[in-house]
Amino acid sequence: MVTQKLVISETQIQECVSRLASLISADYKDQPLLVVGALNGSFIFLSDLIRSMELPIQVDFIRLSSYDESTQSSGSVRLHHGVRTPVKGKNVLVVEDIVDTGFTAEFIRHYFEEQGAASVRICSLLDKPIRRLTSVTVDYVGFEVPDQFLVGYGLDYNQQFRELRALYTLEGVPQNP
Ligand code: IMP
Ligand code: MG
Repeated sequence: MVTQKLVISETQIQECVSRLASLISADYKDQPLLVVGALNGSFIFLSDLIRSMELPIQVDFIRLSSYDESTQSSGSVRLHHGVRTPVKGKNVLVVEDIVDTGFTAEFIRHYFEEQGAASVRICSLLDKPIRRLTSVTVDYVGFEVPDQFLVGYGLDYNQQFRELRALYTLEGVPQNP
């Protein structure tokens, strides 16, 4: 039987989102910002974050996946869908659900740098630094978490559990699906 164990509550997430939104709004100080969500995992975090930010923003999305479906991230990231909004000369803020090995975040950073963004920063709700295999910088981090598989608030296990309002670990399923 699969059971869910609470790790980060809805209130903790809301406080964290407000803190990050204030920090980002202060850092960019009324400058226009292109906010890009990495699908699918970031969609709930992004929608809360942008509604707490006080900045003139554009919003777009990017879709990527690790090249193979193995349990370990392979390091070869595949771009399924890039942004449609012109990037050249803009400040880009990438919104991620979680940075694990860092291969995805590193790929996204290069993608926007190559398109001539004026600046690229990454904001991730969760960070698992112990799993990192790259030296990518994550500029804004919500929570540092240990090496455990989390679901909820946009994060999935086999496309399930994204709708949960808080973050949970699952017990009774194989880790790293
Ligand atoms: P990275 O390229 O290894 O940093 O992969 C990051 C991606 O792996 C995230 O955007 C998630 O889609 C997925 N991922 C990593 N850890 C978790 C987790 O604990 N729960 C759900 N998805 C995860
Ligand atoms: Mg993701």
